[in-house]
Amino acid sequence: MTAQLIDGIALSKQLRTDVARRAAALTARGHQPGLAVVLVGDNPASEVYVRNKIKACEENGFHSVYDRHPADLSEAELLARVDALNRDPNVHGILVQLPLPPQIDSHKVIESISPEKDVDGFHIANAGALMTGQPLFRPCTPYGIMKMFEAYDVPLAGANAVVIGRSNIVGKPMAMLLVNAGATVTICNSKTRNMGAITRAADIVVAATGQVNLLTADMVKPGTTVIDVGMNRNEAGKLCGDVDFAGVKEVAGLITPVPGGVGPMTITMLLVNTIEAAERAAG
Ligand code: GUN
Repeated sequence: MTAQLIDGIALSKQLRTDVARRAAALTARGHQPGLAVVLVGDNPASEVYVRNKIKACEENGFHSVYDRHPADLSEAELLARVDALNRDPNVHGILVQLPLPPQIDSHKVIESISPEKDVDGFHIANAGALMTGQPLFRPCTPYGIMKMFEAYDVPLAGANAVVIGRSNIVGKPMAMLLVNAGATVTICNSKTRNMGAITRAADIVVAATGQVNLLTADMVKPGTTVIDVGMNRNEAGKLCGDVDFAGVKEVAGLITPVPGGVGPMTITMLLVNTIEAAERAAG
């Protein structure tokens, strides 16, 4: 193995120590930080993610509201619930777990969250603020990846960065954060022609597609920083990312494992965004 591992668990632990200290300080002033997590339906993956978010709140001194609803909840009922959470002074962050059932327009729900409580950073106001370089909340997964670049001294200004995937949750905000940091950014998607030629010119590759073994060793130049956002199961049922880890780690300079890379950072940055929301509200 030539690549150095980027340890998302160790970095998370470090950042969560600071979060827990700030939570205790706010609580001592009578403003315990609070996060509401809304889950509609019984998607098993979503249930695991939500449980981990609630657990992270408990471990770091946050108040949490686990707001669970049946899969047939109407859009109007969900909008009413978000409205109540918007008004609740003990709730500083609101996260509506995606995907939502088909009868609910997720855009409408996201836009109903108060931008000051939108700790996912998905509201149009927060997406727009990110684009103009003054974000209130950065989406948690790309924000966590930026923290990894910082912790491992990955130079961004002038770097060629390739983001594979164009979702609103990861790909697009990741690209924008890299643009703001001075990187030269290319965004690829499933229709991109000759992706290997593009990734082979990259100093940084962020893979966020949900496709097993999308990035292989022949697509990476020696020394590249490779970030794997994928959370997939292979045919054997084993958790794996979008990167052929065994092959790519022999070529890359830095690489995130799955699990233990980006995953823990996403929840950590949710705590960071929520503590920032609570500190702003407390004044
Ligand atoms: N579904 C998958 N990732 C996320 C996330 O970061 N936030 C929300 N709300 N839903 C998700």
